[in-house]
Amino acid sequence: MGQVKCIGILTSGGDAPGMNAAIRAVTRSAIYNGLQVKGIYRGYKGLITDEIVEFKSQNVSNIIQLGGTILKTARSKEFLTPEGRQTAYETMKRHGIDALVVIGGDGSLTGARVFAQEFNIPCVGLPGTIDNDLYGTDTTIGYDTALNTILDAVDKIRDTATSHERLFFIEVMGRDAGFLALNGAIASGAEAAIIPEFSTEVDQLEEFIKSGFRKSKNSSIVIVAESELTGGAMHYAERVKNEYPEYDVRVSILGHLQRGGSPTAHDRILASRLGAAAIDAIMEDQRNVMIGIENDQIVYVPFSKAIKNDKPINKELVNVLRQLSI
Ligand code: F6P
Repeated sequence: MGQVKCIGILTSGGDAPGMNAAIRAVTRSAIYNGLQVKGIYRGYKGLITDEIVEFKSQNVSNIIQLGGTILKTARSKEFLTPEGRQTAYETMKRHGIDALVVIGGDGSLTGARVFAQEFNIPCVGLPGTIDNDLYGTDTTIGYDTALNTILDAVDKIRDTATSHERLFFIEVMGRDAGFLALNGAIASGAEAAIIPEFSTEVDQLEEFIKSGFRKSKNSSIVIVAESELTGGAMHYAERVKNEYPEYDVRVSILGHLQRGGSPTAHDRILASRLGAAAIDAIMEDQRNVMIGIENDQIVYVPFSKAIKNDKPINKELVNVLRQLSI
């Protein structure tokens, strides 16, 4: 099992439902395998400011069902500097932590990668983000719950859209990725999705107007992924108001409610499997890898791959949406 005796665990970046299930899984698997566990509060910031507590099995009791993260989270500017990382390293050593498990998205795993390289520390990452934008894993922890939250909201908006015969642009999160928007649109029966991945390929609004709304529908839902590349829901609503004034248009921006809520069964199981696999990876002396799931199998993805590669959108899904929204 190499030299590792004590692991530190932190959550970083945007919280995601299922992070607590992951904290629980990492903690309990570590203890099961004879390792000591230290919970680091507020992400990398807590490594710098020394907010670290020993975790026993009871510290993670009754949290599998909770949204958010009991460890809190932050986006630390100081950790971006070499001085900040040096302080973080010294704190780690003072607490006897000799490996780190980082749960977070792209930015958090980028931080882990740099830290691991600079100080030669075993770091293992778990993909925790509602955006689902990490390469090398079929889904990320929190994505399924956020998707279900979107469905719930869109179903409700559809009631009023239908009653008033309106065109709704609903903006969802995803940073620069369209997974929530595209799959949210398919699952909610929306008429179209506008996603950053296709922002340069076609005029997605024109496509939508031509393909469906004009011909047969008097109410419609278009899901728009937030992103500078799409311009967001407001942008499209303004365009329609100017170019097609006959439509009654409304905008709904779902915002941070997408990040909350009790994790779905899918996210709890995913987080539990990935958390246990993170400890397996540490015991096998793996370092600088993100734990992912591909075709229902655990995979170790080098940080360099998980972070740097853009996860592609499955074009088949785009076609499904197009065909089913006629
Ligand atoms: O990465 C998760 C995410 O929710 C993105 O979808 C969104 O763009 C961003 O975080 C929002 O960040 P914040 O909570 O800092 O406003």
